[in-house]
Amino acid sequence: MGQRRFLITGGSQGIGAALVRRTCAAGHGVVFTGRHADTVEAMASATGAFGLRADITVDEENALAVETCRRELGGVDVLINNVANWYDASIGALDTDAVRRLFASNVIGMVDLTNRVVPLMTEQGEGDIVNISSTSGTKGRPGGTAYAGTKWAVRGITQCWQAELRPHNIRVVSVCPSEVQTRWGDRPGRNNPNKLYADDIAQTIMAALDLPRRAFWPELAVFATNPWRED
Ligand SMILES: NC(=O)c1ccc[n+]([C@@H]2O[C@H](COP(=O)([O-])OP(=O)(O)OC[C@H]3O[C@@H](n4cnc5c(N)ncnc54)[C@H](OP(=O)(O)O)[C@@H]3O)[C@@H](O)[C@H]2O)c1
Repeated sequence: MGQRRFLITGGSQGIGAALVRRTCAAGHGVVFTGRHADTVEAMASATGAFGLRADITVDEENALAVETCRRELGGVDVLINNVANWYDASIGALDTDAVRRLFASNVIGMVDLTNRVVPLMTEQGEGDIVNISSTSGTKGRPGGTAYAGTKWAVRGITQCWQAELRPHNIRVVSVCPSEVQTRWGDRPGRNNPNKLYADDIAQTIMAALDLPRRAFWPELAVFATNPWRED
């Protein structure tokens, strides 16, 4: 893969941060987002990427993210839709406002931002969009109405965009990680060598992008080989 211009949402922590590190180390141009100025600034100064404080649920801030890519990089070649949050509760006990907020950050924000980026990609005649789903988007489970619902939605939307965008030479990929050791679920600081690390997912994404442009990987799941020993 030659030098490309990346927009990575939620690049201040976890999987997004691992991808910011990897793409910067490989010499790509990178703009990333996050909601908190302190973590955004720390990641920007550690990597040389351009960090933007922007919330995916705010349409104007998505417009600003695209404008920042135009100004700092001259455009966008690769959009990584990585932001998501978590809410679990069983049907009969759901806080429907929390469900709405979760769909706003995990689904609607991704749709709004991609809706703004796709015209740039169709105009330049190529691009890549990577949507981070989850193995939670491949099977139902108790308590999963909200989170699993959003992750199934990401996979379904990915298939719609594939149908629309392949004729424009735009590849759309969904990545479905199993459990990854991030601050996810309020369990930061884990370091179990049997379980997935954020950089394993970053490496997988780069492998998918590295295929020759005539080939694309519609969906890939990533599991740890032998994760059953608990940390
Ligand atoms: N970790 C896992 O086990 C796992 C498994 C399967 C799939 N995934 C998926 O992988 C992706 C990344 O997860 P992760 O574990 O790396 O999460 P994480 O460590 O919580 O990082 C999430 C990133 O998104 C940012 N963010 C959250 N809400 C945002 C918003 N509204 N606007 C802009 N930025 C926002 C966070 O920064 P701020 O909070 O400062 O905004 C942070 O940089 C998600 O799509 C998740 O569903 C994770």
